[in-house]
Amino acid sequence: MDQYFKIYQKFDIHRLMLTDKTCALMKYKNVIFKMRKIFEGKVVMDVGAGSGILSIFCAEVGAKKVYAVEASTLANIIEQVSIENNLQDTIKVIHSKVEDIHPDSLEKIDIIVSLWMGFCLINEGMLDSVLFARDNFLRSGGLIFPFEASLHASPCQLPSMYKFGVKSGVSLPVYLSMRCIGKEYRKIESIEESIDEPVVLLLNRDNLLPEEKLFAFLDLRHIPVEEVNLLRKYKIFMCKKDGKHQGICIWFKLYFPDFCSFLSTAPYYETTHWKQTVFVLPVDTVLPVNRKAKERDYFACKLELKELNLWHYKVEITLIKADDEVNLRDLATL
Ligand SMILES: C[S@@+](CC[C@H](N)C(=O)[O-])C[C@H]1O[C@@H](n2cnc3c(N)ncnc32)[C@H](O)[C@@H]1O
Repeated sequence: MDQYFKIYQKFDIHRLMLTDKTCALMKYKNVIFKMRKIFEGKVVMDVGAGSGILSIFCAEVGAKKVYAVEASTLANIIEQVSIENNLQDTIKVIHSKVEDIHPDSLEKIDIIVSLWMGFCLINEGMLDSVLFARDNFLRSGGLIFPFEASLHASPCQLPSMYKFGVKSGVSLPVYLSMRCIGKEYRKIESIEESIDEPVVLLLNRDNLLPEEKLFAFLDLRHIPVEEVNLLRKYKIFMCKKDGKHQGICIWFKLYFPDFCSFLSTAPYYETTHWKQTVFVLPVDTVLPVNRKAKERDYFACKLELKELNLWHYKVEITLIKADDEVNLRDLATL
């Protein structure tokens, strides 16, 4: 079996998702239950059904049939879970990659549900498979849960990476200041040293320096796969408060077709298992809010997401000193 699906066979991944009940799964459940009239008598496809939890919600609200499509061996577990909940007549488990199901082998689907998001939204590379299902199985006018997604970013301070020891707020068994250890730790975690991965951690609203910017908006009903695989955006930030620029914090938001429910992984919303994704800068820059010399309040950053392989995306961040207006104007048009 594909290495990609072997990772999903690890039960701790599914345990993590199932125990994030305060937010992610409960948000899905609440929307599905709120929109139960839309589900009644419908044919649903749960793309990447995992433990089968979303399939169960859909069956519970009266879907006529739910195809629980799961490529890993967890498909066997979905069978057991649906029997345990007496929903085996509604939930049809398909143990296959969704891409390997022949479009003519199933009737048209009314609703696609999927919890495909990874850290930083696109990590895990599963969105392609959901869009494949949309293009090959969804009837015209069918619904997709969630139907829109957005990616947000903000430069941030990372006090937990900078201050160690006394008054740091970090629970270390030391009462002395150990900022030098913080410095070494940061080197290991920064994007310069560890080109491998950003860090996944929890920040709070106070750690964000300027106002957040929308980096990408994905209309999942229509977006072509090629567009998802190369997202390149420039953003100009205006510093709102004094602080040290120590990293770029990224989070996402999902929107559901009742047009009012959403799920956000922002630092100022309820914590989810996705937390926030942070690109740690090797050195920090002081960003004073300069109320007289307006142009110094701005700086720009370019974020580029390129697909590298099925599980990982390559992310490039370029920080641009936007200290003259011409430069800023050029960037704004990109
Ligand atoms: C993020 S988990 C979500 C699990 C489940 N929906 C939940 O809410 O707990 C994604 C699941 O999709 C499966 N998956 C990923 N790509 C797939 C594909 N192309 N076809 C079928 N299953 C896939 C993985 O094996 C994994 O179990």
